[in-house]
Amino acid sequence: MEEKKNILSYETVALDDKESAVVIIDQTKLPGTTEIIQLKTAQEIWDAIYLLKVRGAPAIGVAAAFGIYVLAKHIDAKDYETFMEEFRKQKEYLNSARPTAVNLSWALNRMEALCEANKDKSVEEIKALLKAEAEEIKEEDIRVCRKIGEYGLSLVKPGDGILTHCNAGQLATCKYGTATAPIYLGQEQGYNFRVFADETRPLLQGARLTAYELHSAGVDVTLICDNMSATVMKNGWVNAVFVGCDRVAANGDAANKIGTSVVAAVANRYHVPVYICAPTSTIDMNTPTGNEIHIEQRPAEEVTEMWYKERMAPEGVKVFNPAFDVTDNDLIAGIVTEYGVARAPYTESLKEIFRRKEEAAGKVE
Ligand code: MRU
Repeated sequence: MEEKKNILSYETVALDDKESAVVIIDQTKLPGTTEIIQLKTAQEIWDAIYLLKVRGAPAIGVAAAFGIYVLAKHIDAKDYETFMEEFRKQKEYLNSARPTAVNLSWALNRMEALCEANKDKSVEEIKALLKAEAEEIKEEDIRVCRKIGEYGLSLVKPGDGILTHCNAGQLATCKYGTATAPIYLGQEQGYNFRVFADETRPLLQGARLTAYELHSAGVDVTLICDNMSATVMKNGWVNAVFVGCDRVAANGDAANKIGTSVVAAVANRYHVPVYICAPTSTIDMNTPTGNEIHIEQRPAEEVTEMWYKERMAPEGVKVFNPAFDVTDNDLIAGIVTEYGVARAPYTESLKEIFRRKEEAAGKVE
């Protein structure tokens, strides 16, 4: 265990190349204990993602990119075909850890595409390229979150109340977070936001992570239970909702932590705009609508006993525990990306966001 310092001064995900390890904060222990752990084997990386030791769509993507590099390093093959056969096996395994956050497959596919584009190079050269690509995915995440913060900040004003759900904070990314990026940037500029953090049952990412990181950063944050959002909105204390997401469909439907769609429905009732903060790595244009998004189901124990001193539900009771829900696009005021804020109709505006991305990459005039 490391000496206690501000949680924001730790890296959410890092690579220790000498040790051939992915290094993460074990988020299941926060906020009580800050434990930095090394993941070296495929099983350790898979477990860390499945058990939410590393979680949040962008952080999962970065952990997978470093993870597949670490595993590829150990592939003992001289020729490309043999190397790729083992690489794809490891890739499929890591990809099976969680189904909803598209960043997992997005990062792994990007690493595979890099290998395919360099099949004429030696296996050793490909391994070096994989390391550089994983590092770039991480650096890109930091730049992207900052841009989301700038666009998000343009949607609010000093003194506003902001409500957020789950943790789309620095702990879910490599810096700034997505939904928290406007909050951190606003804080740098003296905006004095008042933030309401939903505790986020059943895994309490809002209480354990969002309230923790915002409070550590000196932000005015108030923790509320998930069933209190209507009260704070009816009181007029909330001017905007900023949440993250795990997968945005081509029509703007957005999957995020279970309970997000409840917040969005309540916000619409009280005319509070709901902004989904989404890096383009989280937008899946191959999924037409939210109906096609695979929602992860998690173990019943997360609801019946986890975090309680003793079990709080009768033995044998049926439990429904979906980890995410889909917010319908008509409840969303805007999708904040690193290329600007997309507005309805999303089928058109999201295409425009990707056009800007291609333009920035020099792929279109
Ligand atoms: O189950 P989790 O903790 O991985 O769920 C995380 C969320 O729902 C986040 O809001 C989402 O991944 C966006 S993180 C920037």
